[in-house]
Amino acid sequence: MSNMSNEYILVCVAWPYANADIHQGNVTGSYLPADIYARYHRLRGNHVLMVSGSDSHGTPVTVKADDLGKSPQEVFEYYHGRFLTLFQQMGLTYDLFTHTDTENHHRVSQDIFTTLGENGYLYRHTTPQMYSPKTGRFLPDRYVEGECPNCGYGRARGDQCDNCNTLFESASQLKNPRSRVDDSALELRDTEHYFLDLPKLAADGLEAWLNDGKEFWRPQVINFARNFVAQGLIGRAITRDMDWGIPVPVPNFEGKVLYVWFEAVIGYLSATIEWAHNNGQPEAWRSWWQNPEARTVYFIGKDNIPFHSVFWPAQLLGASGLYDDGRNLPLNLPYDVPANEFMNMEGRKISGSMNWGVWMLDALERHDPDPLRYYLTAVMPETRDSDWSWEGYVERNNTELVGNWGNLVNRVLNMIQRYFQGQVPDPVELTERDTGLLAAIDAGFETTAALYDGCKFRAAVQENLRLSTLVNQYLEETSPWKTAKTDLAAAGRALYTALQAISGLKVLWSPILPFTSQQIHTLLGEEGQLFGEQVVQTYQEKTRSHAGLTYVDDTAVGQWSRTEIPAGRPLPTPHPLFKRLDPTVAQEELQRLGT
Ligand code: MF3
Ligand code: ZN
Repeated sequence: MSNMSNEYILVCVAWPYANADIHQGNVTGSYLPADIYARYHRLRGNHVLMVSGSDSHGTPVTVKADDLGKSPQEVFEYYHGRFLTLFQQMGLTYDLFTHTDTENHHRVSQDIFTTLGENGYLYRHTTPQMYSPKTGRFLPDRYVEGECPNCGYGRARGDQCDNCNTLFESASQLKNPRSRVDDSALELRDTEHYFLDLPKLAADGLEAWLNDGKEFWRPQVINFARNFVAQGLIGRAITRDMDWGIPVPVPNFEGKVLYVWFEAVIGYLSATIEWAHNNGQPEAWRSWWQNPEARTVYFIGKDNIPFHSVFWPAQLLGASGLYDDGRNLPLNLPYDVPANEFMNMEGRKISGSMNWGVWMLDALERHDPDPLRYYLTAVMPETRDSDWSWEGYVERNNTELVGNWGNLVNRVLNMIQRYFQGQVPDPVELTERDTGLLAAIDAGFETTAALYDGCKFRAAVQENLRLSTLVNQYLEETSPWKTAKTDLAAAGRALYTALQAISGLKVLWSPILPFTSQQIHTLLGEEGQLFGEQVVQTYQEKTRSHAGLTYVDDTAVGQWSRTEIPAGRPLPTPHPLFKRLDPTVAQEELQRLGT
């Protein structure tokens, strides 16, 4: 099968709010599947760009800042720095991980806003909002506190009552509303905002696009989007009365910013533009956004489905003509949105406030990235909510990763050391059983490819396990540890064949297990790197600089095929790839959480 192709693939990854540390649910929900997909397509020789960044604006960040008595800037920079470290350690190969407080992102967001206006998809509308006469400011709903109209609870928040769980349309439903910041009394005042004309966008192509094709979309995603639009869209406010954020680029709108959800999704485009700029090819972003052949794929959790399957496509549709000198080119709408469901832990919802989760940066102090990546892929919540259990982690590490795959590699490499002085044995002539095994591995390059390409990563794990089981069975049947004493040629043939199978499996596993696949690559005496490297960099803009993560792949020798390891090659001294974990690890990890 052909090994190289030339497709443009934009891997769009959810932008984490920079207000909390990242847990395993975030990683398995979007960052890891995105990375597996990106690595797979890089091995195929496609033009992959994987982009994301920290979501630095919005009330999630300002609320956290107020709680800590810090500025939103300080809070987001702190978490952004931790995200960079984590992603580097986990091997998440963002071509660019930036953030939403760059000059570039501000400009692109404002330009999308302006283009939507020029294309006739924005309107102004005045609504009453909570206002604090004491501070002279409008307050977001989450900052309002008052009496619940449903249960009478005195400290209900403007968006929700924590006592009876009623959700409010607007904080104006609360009785005796007060500011959560300074407890001052609030009143309703009129404020003017910009609205996105979603009914018009639905009629001008959004609905037709959702109804066209998409058979391969996950049913929970496409069904949601179609129902949502079929029920009739209403205009949505895309500006807010706040200081922290991107100024609305129109006169007399001081003190208002673009709504965080309006601008965060624009990050997919602005980060592509920033990447192109950083790489000295400022126009290169067009190959992913204005090229009808390109694929843009969005890796997100299910809570983000409305924003990625309806609102962001609407924004893109309405912003045709952006930066194209009057040619009115469309911007690519999502090719796929393979949203994941949620991951729980030990049967309970992951929760920051209850310290219930695997905080990934902390876990990496005790666990290698590949076993974590392995388990998070094996139990990825692709079709329904899934569960992380520490016992499950230990069990699957021991039986599958160590027992099935790692031991296979170790046994073969160790026997080559022992019986052939570390040189790849000469098979002389392969039997049908030998070529049959290698044909099965080679066929895996088609079956596994379809699974990676279709975002069926759990199934890819199972397929790779099935293939390495075939090699384990082959070794049982050929028993080179026995024939080494009676028929050295037969032992050599079996070890040669198993080694070639490992050479193939190393590639098949590598999108999921990049670190250990690289080690195997080296242990097979191969040169170079399967993948490039993650580098933290500082980018200087006109008035500020920012840290980001970038992927450098100058040295990568990635390929989607099995390389023949030549007979006679001396192999390096092997070392174990994975560690067997004692069952007490599960208890220890649970104890750390204070259970
Ligand atoms: N920061 C938001 C969240 O964590 C949204 C992420 S995706 C984005 O849920 F593209 F919209 F930013
Ligand atoms: Zn209530």
